[in-house]
Amino acid sequence: MKIAVAGTGYVGLVTGACLAEKGHNVICVDIDENKVKKMKSGISPIYEEGLEEIMRRNYSNGRLDYTTDYSLAYKNADVIFIAVGTPERSDGSANLDYIRKVASEIAESIEKNTLIVIKSTVPIGTNAKIEEFLRKKIKSDIYVELASNPEFLAQGTAVRDTLHASRIVIGVESKWAENIMKEIYKPFDLPMIITNRNSAEMIKYASNDFLALRISYMNDIANLCEIVGANVEDVAEGMSYDDRIGSKFLKAGIGYGGSCFPKDTKALHWLSSQNGYELKTVRAAIEVNEQQKMKLVRKASERVDSFEGLKVAVLGLTFKPGTDDLRESPSIPNIEYLLERGAHVTVYDPVGEENAKKLFGDKVIYAKSIIEAIKDSSMCFIMTEWPEIKNIKPEVFKNEMLEPLVYDGRNCYIPKVMEEAGIEYYSIGR
Ligand code: UDX
Repeated sequence: MKIAVAGTGYVGLVTGACLAEKGHNVICVDIDENKVKKMKSGISPIYEEGLEEIMRRNYSNGRLDYTTDYSLAYKNADVIFIAVGTPERSDGSANLDYIRKVASEIAESIEKNTLIVIKSTVPIGTNAKIEEFLRKKIKSDIYVELASNPEFLAQGTAVRDTLHASRIVIGVESKWAENIMKEIYKPFDLPMIITNRNSAEMIKYASNDFLALRISYMNDIANLCEIVGANVEDVAEGMSYDDRIGSKFLKAGIGYGGSCFPKDTKALHWLSSQNGYELKTVRAAIEVNEQQKMKLVRKASERVDSFEGLKVAVLGLTFKPGTDDLRESPSIPNIEYLLERGAHVTVYDPVGEENAKKLFGDKVIYAKSIIEAIKDSSMCFIMTEWPEIKNIKPEVFKNEMLEPLVYDGRNCYIPKVMEEAGIEYYSIGR
């Protein structure tokens, strides 16, 4: 099967590489000449474990290629996957400009019957709309149909999540499209859910928003735990043994970030209100997350008279470990809060420094190690639970900091151990 993939972000590049790994002929399309050159030489534009190995193997065996020439790529393809971004607009709705642009390029390029598959997360009804648009634009002797195939990969484990996905969701309106999709995914040997397009689009939002809701629920419970003297970690563990609940996504912290949960909760809430319905649970998840993100700096502001001139260390910048991505990371509003109040902020992240520089420029100091970051600081915030941050020994805080005052947004340490080491320690829900 000849497949073209539009967009080489997390979803597009990983999907393209994994489809090639499973034996398909894949060409990935991106407008950025430099990016294409890099990918051809085996360099991935994103930090993702195992990806470059698959890229190199399949580029050299001829199954995977990259191009800026969308016209040629789309013309030769039997199936075109659209995997471009659907960022958040200021009103919370999903911005479909990139999808529309690709659809126009497809319309001017294709010369034979083609199945177009939307992998990007799109509002319910988008597949149908794009299909209508394409059918109006293309020559009458060509047949196009749209299929929805949402992606559930998480950053940091994207390759594993794609090759060993929990399920393949396929939304189709004809046997023709169903058969093509089944053929594409046959070599993956994974459970397949075949439904209509609107349901497939909804499965993606409903899944992401449910996970976001679980996190916000646990953060809400964590806040109550602090008030009534319970320990949220024990509460989560106790809940997890009930297999109706399960153990995943019960970790309280300073809120969820990343390129999906914040935008997808807002997009579904927006879509429901446009349809005259208020999704109250999702609204609550969004509100709890907004409050949770600033919880520790607020607590710290009650502890000190002022942040003015204080040396503050921030350990971990990315929205979670295993990625260099800072999009919607709770660390961002926290650092902004500290800078606005005159703190001297030194940050450390094992891989997020380059992306942090694009946001904070020279407003913060970038330490090359944990020790350098916390040395002589009066306060330390933990924002991401990177293994090397979790492994810091309490005496390191005690010996290196001017005052051992630690605010841990990811519950990396045991409170009793920290307190016994003479550290004033605050975490979430304990
Ligand atoms: C998520 C979904 O997991 C994935 O299926 C979807 O396709 C895209 O969105 P991702 O954003 O890469 O993936 O990261 P994920 O591991 O889900 O974490 C998202 C955020 O939730 C992180 O900020 C993380 O710290 C937070 N989180 C996660 C918690 O606070 N507690 C938890 O228990 C789990």
